[in-house]
Amino acid sequence: QTIYLSDYKPFGWQIEDVHLTFRLAPETTRVIARIHFAPNPGAPAQDFFLHGEELRLIRAAIDGAEIVPVVTAEGLRCPVPDGPFLWEAEVEIAPAANTALEGLYMSKGMYCTQCEAEGFRKITFYPDRPDVMSTFTVRIEGDLPVLLSNGNPTGAGDGWAEWHDPWPKPAYLFALVAGDLVAHSDSFTTRSGRAVALNIWVRPGDEGKCAFGMEALKKSMTWDEEVYGREYDLDVFNIVAVDDFNMGAMENKGLNIFNSSCVLASPETSTDDNFERIEAIIAHEYFHNWTGNRITCRDWFQLCLKEGLTVFRDSQFTSDMRGPEVKRINDVRDLRARQFPEDQGPLSHPVRPESFQEINNFYTATVYEKGAEVIGMLKRLVGDDGYARALDLYFERHDGDAATIEDWLRVFEDATGRDLGQFKRWYSQAGTPRLSVRETWEPRAPASTPPSRDPATQEAPDQARGDGRFTLSFTQHTPPTPGQPDKAPQVIPIAVGLLNPNGDEVVPTTVLEMTQASQSFSFDGLATRPVASILRGFSAPVVLEREQSREERAFLLAHDTDAFNRWEASQSLARDSLLSTITDGTPPDAAWLDALHKVVTDSTLTPDFRSSMLDLPSQGELAQLLHRRGNVPDPDAIWQASEGLRGIMAERWRASLPALAEEARVDAPYRPDAEQTGKRALGSKILALQSRLDGGKAAQAQFDAADNMTLQLTALACLLRAGAGAGDAALAAFHAQWKDDRLVMDKWFGLQVACAEPDTAVSVAAALTRHADFDWRNPNRFRAVLSALAGHHAAFHAADGSGYDLLADWLIRLDAKNPQTTARMCAAFQTWKRYDEGRQARARAALERIAATPGLSRDTNEMVTRMLT
Ligand code: ARG
Ligand code: ZN
Repeated sequence: QTIYLSDYKPFGWQIEDVHLTFRLAPETTRVIARIHFAPNPGAPAQDFFLHGEELRLIRAAIDGAEIVPVVTAEGLRCPVPDGPFLWEAEVEIAPAANTALEGLYMSKGMYCTQCEAEGFRKITFYPDRPDVMSTFTVRIEGDLPVLLSNGNPTGAGDGWAEWHDPWPKPAYLFALVAGDLVAHSDSFTTRSGRAVALNIWVRPGDEGKCAFGMEALKKSMTWDEEVYGREYDLDVFNIVAVDDFNMGAMENKGLNIFNSSCVLASPETSTDDNFERIEAIIAHEYFHNWTGNRITCRDWFQLCLKEGLTVFRDSQFTSDMRGPEVKRINDVRDLRARQFPEDQGPLSHPVRPESFQEINNFYTATVYEKGAEVIGMLKRLVGDDGYARALDLYFERHDGDAATIEDWLRVFEDATGRDLGQFKRWYSQAGTPRLSVRETWEPRAPASTPPSRDPATQEAPDQARGDGRFTLSFTQHTPPTPGQPDKAPQVIPIAVGLLNPNGDEVVPTTVLEMTQASQSFSFDGLATRPVASILRGFSAPVVLEREQSREERAFLLAHDTDAFNRWEASQSLARDSLLSTITDGTPPDAAWLDALHKVVTDSTLTPDFRSSMLDLPSQGELAQLLHRRGNVPDPDAIWQASEGLRGIMAERWRASLPALAEEARVDAPYRPDAEQTGKRALGSKILALQSRLDGGKAAQAQFDAADNMTLQLTALACLLRAGAGAGDAALAAFHAQWKDDRLVMDKWFGLQVACAEPDTAVSVAAALTRHADFDWRNPNRFRAVLSALAGHHAAFHAADGSGYDLLADWLIRLDAKNPQTTARMCAAFQTWKRYDEGRQARARAALERIAATPGLSRDTNEMVTRMLT
């Protein structure tokens, strides 16, 4: 059954308040609800319907009189009075039997909830939709020491606790936690003087892994006050770490629940990347308090209203904490790795989808990451001041609302006077626009000549002045996507800078605003033909198709003032070099390698940036590129070329590696800050190159001496990649050291798959699924092995179909227990039509086998159906 945005109708009743009582028991939890309904004057007449799934109704009453509603698998209906009334219902649920991890479930003896998007209907009968908002009072009865819900604590005694949340909220933000937990506590005073108690609740034994998360929380609270003027609005802020969780974390009002992998951190057990990710996710969930909770979504089609904006905000936060340049590079890498395949394949959908069967399938890179890119473009177009005014207006106008994308765009229009009618296509049109560019140079274009359309009116500085005109002519085109054969031109902000051949910047970054299918922009008064740096900072989520000489790209790699485009110039040379190796065996581009070597050994640049410069295009990205250029990607050839290139880099740079390793060494005690993280990132890339020359000697030394997980894990990865058993001893030592730490063991599982050769990775993964510690019901452990397999391009796309088959076997098994995680992981197949006929036939067979599974969930069924059509 498909749900459409165009069918939206407000609910016929409002809710004044909700009282819930929970009598906790693993198999027989009672939930008693008392809810005051009143007719919604703004809604069309309708039957009274409450969502409810997997609930055993014990008793229901209206205004004290027992009733017998008609109950179906989706909910219940009953006649109700014309005016306001009190609804009472008692239901029984079985949290211990809830393996879907949606609604109220148990994880290691602890009760917890996940209600977004539509899990509250598994707790009690309710209008489970985000535009129905109410205050909640919750009483929890249970013999566990810690009993938590949303809002402020209002009372507690032996075996019970009560909570009241004064802020009206939709049911998806409801949360309850009960368990034998300990807190890492702190406090924060908001700028208007509210004292807030902060707690991170964990299972005993994990207390030592909370300090970093707590610091991240306090930094987030300060940052949101300073940058967005947003203060926290309750007396307590609780975070709970849960081992069994489908996603990363959840922003429940005053009670954020986190996958333990996204909050617990210590230098011994977490990598620098883990620290950075934890800081970002803590910020993300905290920022939702305003962008998501105080202002929520009218319906689930508007999901990007809160997610795109909150991702954008957490990116800004990370830029401020750790530096904007590398953050931007990482975000673009991530966008290309996860969002581009989605946007360019069968799962393509607009940032604001117009229909769905299962909303959980739309918590996607498109909604989140492209949603954030769209806001970045908006900010670029209206400027920093315009953005600040629009956001102030958004909070002022919509506080307490369940809002829409129309509301969001309206505040920008009202605050800046700009018409965003065309810009709105970024929300409705799916697919990645292709932007191509042509350059023309007219050495003598007298000022009297009328400039071509939309002149950028840029004047060159005096020393560079002349009569020359440089013109950039752009064409945009978005290929068809499912359900959208024809695309209209989008508004594309194109950030451009011009450099003189001597390296001086003659035109600093200027944002060209492209609105038409084809459009030209001229720069007058130039003395010499400039080199154009286009799409600086990746100013729009498009594919830039540019014929540019290698010399020019090498020039930008060396001289561009825009860090992102320096990186991009190198990426583009790397892509071309790898593609020629793949398609006709050409050896790597030596000029590029030398130019790159210059940058990597330039100690005036930060280690962090130098490390990013050593990123190579991923194998998935190369496959995507080949496909876009009309070739059929061969995963084995892509693997060979990538490996070969790394080998040549190691050989060619052999002499510089020891000095680079030395530069990357950190002597100070471990800190997960940007400075040390950057050094270790550079160090790990250098170690990987060294390991190709010394068979793993340096890596073994680093492994033996490591006192933090970053160094230990990067060394282990190098040893595993060295092959020939070089990693066996380290792998066993690592297991012995960490067998009791679930999160570290997830790394142990995943790394073995990620570092295996293509011809063994599938059997390594299969063997790991038979390991005694492979707890496949735990999403983190399941993903550790099977997402690592899906991420191993050459192994997953093995010609014999063994990668597809292993993943399909496990997805079929998991679907019966946990549809959400299964459906998400199905997306691994989304690129299947790129490959050769043999692979396609095997992928299709695997997908059809999943589709034919009796009792397949709606979640997974929707995903495989979209991929098969
Ligand atoms: N709102 C959460 C976040 O982004 C994600 C929760 C999604 N959960 C789900 N079951 N779809 O921070
Ligand atoms: Zn979010």
